[in-house]
Amino acid sequence: RADDGYRLWLKYDQLGDSPQRTQYRAAAQFIAATGNAEVLKTAAAELQRGLQGLLGQPVPVVASAAGDTRRGIVLAIVPAAKVFGSPASLEGYRISTQGRNLTVMGRSGAGVLYGVYALLRQLQTSQPIAGLNLSSSPRIQYRLLNHWDNPNGTVERGYAGSSIWKWYELPQRLDPRYTDYARANASIGLNGVAINNVNASARYLTPEYLQKVKALAGVFRPYGIRVYLSVFWAAPKVIGGLKTADPLDPQVKQWWAAKSEEIYNAIPDFGGFLVKANSEGEPGPQDYGRTHADGANMLAAALGTHDGIVMWRAFVYKAGSSDRFKQAYEDFKPLDGQFAPKVLVQVKNGPIDFQSREPFHPLFGAMPKTPLVLEVQLTQEYLGFASHLVYVAPLIKECLDADTQTKGPGSTATKVVDGSLDQHRISGIAGVANIGTDRNWTGHPVGQANWYAFGRLAWDYTLTSAAIAAEWTKMTLTREPQAVATIVDVMAKSRDIYVRYTTPLGLHHIMGQSIHYGPEPWLAEAGRPDWTAVYYHKADSLGLGFDRTAAGSNALALYAPGVQKQWGDAKTCPLNYLLWFHHVGWKQPLSTGRTLWNELVTRYYTGTDSVAWMQRRWATVKPQVDAALFADVAARLQIQQREARWWRDACVLYFQTFSKQPIPAPFVPPT
Ligand code: GCU
Repeated sequence: RADDGYRLWLKYDQLGDSPQRTQYRAAAQFIAATGNAEVLKTAAAELQRGLQGLLGQPVPVVASAAGDTRRGIVLAIVPAAKVFGSPASLEGYRISTQGRNLTVMGRSGAGVLYGVYALLRQLQTSQPIAGLNLSSSPRIQYRLLNHWDNPNGTVERGYAGSSIWKWYELPQRLDPRYTDYARANASIGLNGVAINNVNASARYLTPEYLQKVKALAGVFRPYGIRVYLSVFWAAPKVIGGLKTADPLDPQVKQWWAAKSEEIYNAIPDFGGFLVKANSEGEPGPQDYGRTHADGANMLAAALGTHDGIVMWRAFVYKAGSSDRFKQAYEDFKPLDGQFAPKVLVQVKNGPIDFQSREPFHPLFGAMPKTPLVLEVQLTQEYLGFASHLVYVAPLIKECLDADTQTKGPGSTATKVVDGSLDQHRISGIAGVANIGTDRNWTGHPVGQANWYAFGRLAWDYTLTSAAIAAEWTKMTLTREPQAVATIVDVMAKSRDIYVRYTTPLGLHHIMGQSIHYGPEPWLAEAGRPDWTAVYYHKADSLGLGFDRTAAGSNALALYAPGVQKQWGDAKTCPLNYLLWFHHVGWKQPLSTGRTLWNELVTRYYTGTDSVAWMQRRWATVKPQVDAALFADVAARLQIQQREARWWRDACVLYFQTFSKQPIPAPFVPPT
């Protein structure tokens, strides 16, 4: 049957006949799972399902391996921390060979479950298991998907159908898809889900909806996943009947404390709150002359002694600011040190808004007393929706690898996020989900790889983008080596290609108004200057780009001196960030030997040509991948090819009205 993509990377189809399969079959004759922990049972069931599928043989689950003369796999919760190395996370695992058997140990059921998925991954990617000795612990503690799903079933910035949560059926009916969703998340190490849009409806906090949320939490719990809620700041007014939502008002505090008790009564392992406040028209503590810290700390207090956290978003900007780039920093940096211990501030990878390429957010490294959650976007709001093939792992890595230099060289964003730079106890990372009711979950089949890569990086950011792409490809599309290499190559280059045909050289925010699709660099009226395009590219007769040096908005001053020095000089600023920080003359020669204008045009044209290259590469894998899936990607690449030309022509012709320069050879269009 045609592969409809529903099973994601958890296909478990029988492996072909090979010496490896013989080896796996010999090693997996039973599964022993001792104990009653709920997640351990999940682990045993998933391993059984995976092994039976992959190996095509029955694999019984037994209570103990003692006395068994066959070879099998032993799942064990082992409280001793020392076998898991340091830092000894409760979620870490170790897979080792012990006598005849393979043992998967964790300090908790979740640890064993993650170990089981790691073991299955070995089989799915044809790795040897003889003498296996693998251990791993997550480097970041809170690893969440953020769903921007609404109660009416729509998904803000969702391109893969409707919300998978069927509120009108809950809590009575549990769609089997919820379980498959939980399996997918657990298989890549995610342990939390904020189920609703940050532009939150207060409805989720009503008793009626809490019953529904409780039902979902019950599906996720056996997979080690906790539920979080985005909250509407003015809920005490909207559903609580209070006159105010002032965080310092005693009745407001009381309302949130009671609400939190009510939630924990229903969901004892509730994860906590995610908050978007005083941003894009959402209410917040500033409406009452209070700060973000006042708001976040009040919510943290409302959680009481429960094991929950508050993730307070720093995505804030107002009309009328001199440079939107600076606002989150200006609002939050002064609050460093004022947040309660349970509060994490959630910061997008870049200072504007999930553009195809942004410099790292200046708050990374600037708030040493506050744990910062890195928020990245998996849904392709600014990356061609579900029509364009864009693998986002390189984008995520680019942010993580960025050196903030705030504590000297080597102060990477990674060390800020994992807490090691400033010795924080808690750490987090969030990915805005790209999941919907489409049969294949993500619309574009390669969108699955973005979900997959996010989880893998959240667990272990030292993995390379290419290694993750190879894993995903082997588990999902094909194990044929040449095809794997081709697909990984296309994926690895896809994000750079997208940047080239849409926003090369550090252009940003020149996309279609409000829909955020297609080019609209000429947009000059959008109700607010910071929602236009001309605000960002500042094209004029002299040149192009936003001067953020001291001569301009001086946003560069938000970075450490070393970063300022490199980026502040147009000669040393990486070309990828050039127009983020400089207004560059059209005829200015760049390090490539071309003038700005010629380089710009070259990138638009070669980027567009590269989509044709992607099409040609994809055509070569046809014999190796499922026919329906092949055709799906091929068709989307056709759309991408057409739209790359749209971007190229729109932008080149528009900017040409300022540069008044000819299109350089060899790109001169035929007359
Ligand atoms: C972007 C996006 C909005 C979203 C916002 C946010 O601006 O377009 O739909 O609400 O980010 O992250 O809060």
